[in-house]
Amino acid sequence: MLVEVVDNYETLSDRAAEVVIQQIREKPDSTLGFATGGTPKGLYNRLIEAHEESGLDFSKLTTFNLDEYVGLPPEHEQSYARYMWSNLFNHVNVTESQVHIPHGMAEDVDSHCQWYERRIEEAGGIDLQILGVGANGHIAFNEPGSSLGSRTRIKTLASKTVKDNARYFEDQDMVPEYAITMGVGTIMEADEVLLLASGERKAEAMKKTLEGHITAMTPASMVQMHRFAHIVIDEEAASELDYQHHHGIVEPKDE
Ligand code: GLP
Repeated sequence: MLVEVVDNYETLSDRAAEVVIQQIREKPDSTLGFATGGTPKGLYNRLIEAHEESGLDFSKLTTFNLDEYVGLPPEHEQSYARYMWSNLFNHVNVTESQVHIPHGMAEDVDSHCQWYERRIEEAGGIDLQILGVGANGHIAFNEPGSSLGSRTRIKTLASKTVKDNARYFEDQDMVPEYAITMGVGTIMEADEVLLLASGERKAEAMKKTLEGHITAMTPASMVQMHRFAHIVIDEEAASELDYQHHHGIVEPKDE
């Protein structure tokens, strides 16, 4: 694991953007895995800037998103499809044919999930997967208890996640209880994962993720098994860690 601890959310977003921009420049036909949530928004703003100001080219990429709420059509303002188009895709040169996001209204969810897995395989696998982390240690919508070898499938959301999300919905009856999500196993097959976490709200989850046991109760802890996990977190998210990370050197904080 390469863990970089940066000052704050702005430097986290700058650093994440450097990594993603370098990937796109080095391999313009990369397959990228995108995440939603508040954390990657700063990164997406910087990608838009790089497109506008220095012509960063998105036209040859293939993209896969981690997850989507079941029961929300893509145009719903809280759907992850809508999030991706309004926070990134609408502002860069990406067309629909390049983009894959699980469909929240799929009639046959199981075959949709199998199709999603096949599409990732046909695209040659994911080169770089961006990840956030839930306050309960979930990645994508792999909630605590998710099998660490899991594949794309439907998951029941943890009550903490449902509560966390409820504030975004005007109509409380529309707050989703299920999601389609790439599995932990699917995510771990990406060549590189770039996990981002910011703020005190994530401190406990990051301690468990980076220093705890690898356990299905903290699905994000599976990054410890990944061949190239790149973690960028800010000081607040790193505040519970017992170890400090400095230029790749890892030492106990009290030494
Ligand atoms: C949701 C998403 C995750 C994301 C998490 C954290 O649960 N399914 O992919 O990482 O939220 O969101 P935030 O970045 O807003 O804290």
